Amino acid sequence: MNNFEFVNPTKIIFGKDQLQKLQSELPENAKVLMLYGGGSIKKNGIYDRVMEALEGVSVTEFGGIPANPEYDILKEALAVIKDKDINFLLAVGGGSVIDGTKYLSSAALYEGEDPWDILAKGIRTEKGMPFGTVLTLPATGSEMNSGAVITRKSMKVKLPMGGPGLFPKFSFLDPTVVASIPQRQLANGLADAFTHVLEQYMTYPIGALIQDRFAEGVFQSIIEVAPRIMKDPSNYEAAANFMWSCTLALNGLIQKGVPTDWVIHMIGHELTALHGIDHARTLAIIAESHYLTSFETKKEKLAQYAERVWGITEGGLEEKAKAGIQKTKEFYESLGIDTKLSAYTNDYQGTAEEIEKRFNDRGIKGAGERGLVTPESVRKIVEMAY
Ligand code: NZQ
Ligand code: ZN
Repeated sequence: MNNFEFVNPTKIIFGKDQLQKLQSELPENAKVLMLYGGGSIKKNGIYDRVMEALEGVSVTEFGGIPANPEYDILKEALAVIKDKDINFLLAVGGGSVIDGTKYLSSAALYEGEDPWDILAKGIRTEKGMPFGTVLTLPATGSEMNSGAVITRKSMKVKLPMGGPGLFPKFSFLDPTVVASIPQRQLANGLADAFTHVLEQYMTYPIGALIQDRFAEGVFQSIIEVAPRIMKDPSNYEAAANFMWSCTLALNGLIQKGVPTDWVIHMIGHELTALHGIDHARTLAIIAESHYLTSFETKKEKLAQYAERVWGITEGGLEEKAKAGIQKTKEFYESLGIDTKLSAYTNDYQGTAEEIEKRFNDRGIKGAGERGLVTPESVRKIVEMAY
């Protein structure tokens, strides 16, 4: 096991009927900017519940943060923060609203000239404006981590940011919110969380027994709960397991002391930037070709995963490893998610070359747990996924 340090300061308040505690989590004299997305919270009652819980608090609202939070819209929210002297942010939404709020948390206290540099120059956020979240969509784990990904459509880019100053102060996780989530987003959430575990597990053995077992537990819980949640999102027990699995998949715990990969996400973000494909679906497009391309360096963990997670007992190490890749693809498909780029766009020619160029432009010589995934191999991975 590698050396590591682990801090996660986010307070989780999990379960139904907890929102009445919201006010007591806010700092005294809070001037709150409440941020939300395209309006789903107004239809499913979450908006009313939050506003009721905030009665008597100074609250300004900012709605309209789109999926893949857009820099130009966040700029408007930043102006509101300055105008209204806001000192606390409250994200009510899924990964996009929470990530957008993280950008604002950082930008609000940024002392440089242009807050775009936080993304363009990859500046870490040591201190941000404090914020909390009310999660409405289990998927990203953003409610308990310190990362975010922001899109700027005019430049066709989607860039990551993060730092220790960007953990939420608190996050309300109420599984009853799952009942109103459409099928497409349920599938996305399951696939995204599943892939988060893959990225932190499918590397090479390092004798980290407990991290492996935690990761396998999250895989198995997602696999078990997936058909139940797709069939009936109002099933509270299934929703609670879905929600907590998604948070645990990316709150930092399972990646401590082990090598991590993240190539699928690096390429996936480019597919969203270029073609506007939902985040989770880009991951399903890339996973198989990435694992086939890096088969030699990943086959031990692939075989362990096939055995322990999918119960594959037949064949030698390589056969089991191949079966693990096949099972992963079938899992995405079981959620109704296509695993080839051509299912999403007719305009895919040239995508592989463009992503190779972007990796080269950013000076990425080798990605993945061993730094072996070169821009050229990225091109091949994307071509295989056409
Ligand atoms: O905008 P509204 O109207 O609220 O509708 C949203 C949105 O259209 C809807 N929705 C959310 N909760 C709902 C609901 N509809 C009905 N009932 C509810 N309770 O779902 C749609 C998608 O929401 P979004 O927040 O975009 O989804 P998700 O949580 O999957 O977030 C995706 C974003 O997170 C980033 C992705 O790249 C993408 O931009 N990620 C963030 C990560 C992180 N911070 O750690 C890690 C991930 O790997 C990922 O990159
Ligand atoms: Zn993801």
